[in-house]
Amino acid sequence: MIIAIDGPAASGKSTSARRVAKQLDFLYLDTGAMYRCVTLAFLDQGIAFSDLAAVERILESIEVNLSDENGEPAAYVNGKNVTDKIRSVEITSNVSPVSAIREVRTAMVRLQRKIASKSDCVMEGRDIGTVVFPNADVKIFLVADAEIRAKRRQDDLRALGEMKSVEELVKEIEARDAYDSTREHSPLQKAEDAIEIDTSNMTIDEQVSKMIEIVNQQKENNEKL
Ligand code: DC
Repeated sequence: MIIAIDGPAASGKSTSARRVAKQLDFLYLDTGAMYRCVTLAFLDQGIAFSDLAAVERILESIEVNLSDENGEPAAYVNGKNVTDKIRSVEITSNVSPVSAIREVRTAMVRLQRKIASKSDCVMEGRDIGTVVFPNADVKIFLVADAEIRAKRRQDDLRALGEMKSVEELVKEIEARDAYDSTREHSPLQKAEDAIEIDTSNMTIDEQVSKMIEIVNQQKENNEKL
């Protein structure tokens, strides 16, 4: 079973998707973290994003691993723990252009499908219900008010020791959404058959319950067929 969870930046996907996966005993895959890992590798190696030969060279050799360590998500690039690094302001401000590169998407989508072929999976991102798994069993699209998303992002950054104003974060979030939604390849888009949840006024517990309710409803529908 594949549960696809898409939505714009800081709409509440990661925390709720991870908890849904845990509750269902499914694998959880944060595809945004994969694009962040690739961005880190590009920046570390100092390549221009427009240099396709260099992009392909790195994609051929990079090893991205996402895991769960004592209930917390961890990310590794070529064996090195980059969990905190990929959440930095520098990566966040470069990840949209990197994830818009067709070759990057092709490589990541291939990896995402391979990982999900081995197990039931809750996968979250921007194009899971539209491109990666258009036949996903359940498709959920999360949205939330920009200011509320900015406040959530501010909390995440504070935990990393970085500080930004809500106004600045609203601008950044809106710019990233605009970039992700208008890019040529696999733009952020709600799948026609996705169920939308507005998380603006919901606690994480409420989001998780709602998502589990949708999954159970879908399971019931499948059993009836
Ligand atoms: O979910 P996130 O904020 O960590 O995602 C980081 C970026 O990665 C986001 O701005 C767009 C890109 N992304 C994507 O293009 N496709 C996905 N399936 C997931 C993320």
